[in-house]
Amino acid sequence: MDCTSIANANVKNKTVLVRVDFNEPLDDKGRLVSDYRIRAAIPTISYLRKKNCRILLLTHLGRPKNREKRFRTAKLAARLSELIKTRVFHTTDCIGAHTLLEVQKLGPKDILMLENVRFYPEEKANDKLFAKQLSQLAQAYVNEAFSNCHRKHASMVGVPQFLPGLAGLRLIEELDVLGSLLNRPKRPFVALLGGAKVYSKIDVLKALLKSADKVLIGGAMLFTFVKAQGGSVGKSPVEDDKIDLARRLLQSYPGKIILAPDVVAAKDKNSRAVIVSSSAIPSTHAGFDVGPQTVELFSKSVKSSKTLFWNGPLGWYEVSKFSKATNQISRVIAKSKTFSVIGGGDSATAVHRLRLAKNIDFMSTGGGAALTLVAGLELPAVTALRRSKKIK
Ligand code: 3PG
Repeated sequence: MDCTSIANANVKNKTVLVRVDFNEPLDDKGRLVSDYRIRAAIPTISYLRKKNCRILLLTHLGRPKNREKRFRTAKLAARLSELIKTRVFHTTDCIGAHTLLEVQKLGPKDILMLENVRFYPEEKANDKLFAKQLSQLAQAYVNEAFSNCHRKHASMVGVPQFLPGLAGLRLIEELDVLGSLLNRPKRPFVALLGGAKVYSKIDVLKALLKSADKVLIGGAMLFTFVKAQGGSVGKSPVEDDKIDLARRLLQSYPGKIILAPDVVAAKDKNSRAVIVSSSAIPSTHAGFDVGPQTVELFSKSVKSSKTLFWNGPLGWYEVSKFSKATNQISRVIAKSKTFSVIGGGDSATAVHRLRLAKNIDFMSTGGGAALTLVAGLELPAVTALRRSKKIK
């Protein structure tokens, strides 16, 4: 059973609790560094306003240990208000009598941003009573928080047990685009995987090996594969307990897994860097980025693909001298004609930094959620939405 979109439901004049994921990165002063997720929810907010709804926005921000000022949602309300040029009210709680009073003050089309749902430990504990208290604020629930759908939290899976549940416009799009990668990609379909850990990407790697025509591997996870092939990786990070798995995958999909052939290696991040073969890294050195030959090889694959999925930077891109390959490949993807999909996380951050997001066909708002979906695994919040009762 599919989720019902707000576009196919009678939401007119209703009070709706919209679970958004405005968990945007913050700088050390607690200021927003990005507003991508806020922007992604605007079509749903505008649609609900057109239908004269009273809109309650509920989100988490960060991983607060208590009611930390840094993680209050007032700044999110302010940013949304700037973007949509409409007043967004804010309240300092998300449940209880005071919140209910604030909700009752709202008129049609009004927007109220509730306080950080993670200020209550009951959220992460998926506490049933807490979910019920949240549900008492509204007549319908909308999930517009794709990037948090892998979390089994009260506001994600609990509330739709008490209220009719609907999917926001962006959630539907995320499920369609990312789902289509596994089911009906235009071929050749090339997947580019980087980032640090093989273990966090095993499921997605296995799923992509089945559906993609080529899987290109860079980033720190490269070294586990190179070692599995018998290469010398020097001091580069290797997940020893994943070497057997890497070997099995290389044997099961001959020619499909393409490992970065060269790397930028150094003794440490401050020493002189050299370009060497990824399978002949000196014992004193570690690989910190992929090299020019890799960028050329991967760029060719990107350019000749019809669908591209990218997750994970190719090197230690936070350090500028090791960000070259990630930046170069971002530009190649942005320029290419392939249908490009970026699976959130650090690769999305890299693309945003270079201001190339507008040239990407689909930038997922989700990191962990996008990988879970592309791996063909269940997203608990989507299941909860499918099971929730229909709106009248
Ligand atoms: C995310 O940014 O991936 C989601 O908002 C989930 O946040 P979390 O990793 O803190 O649960």
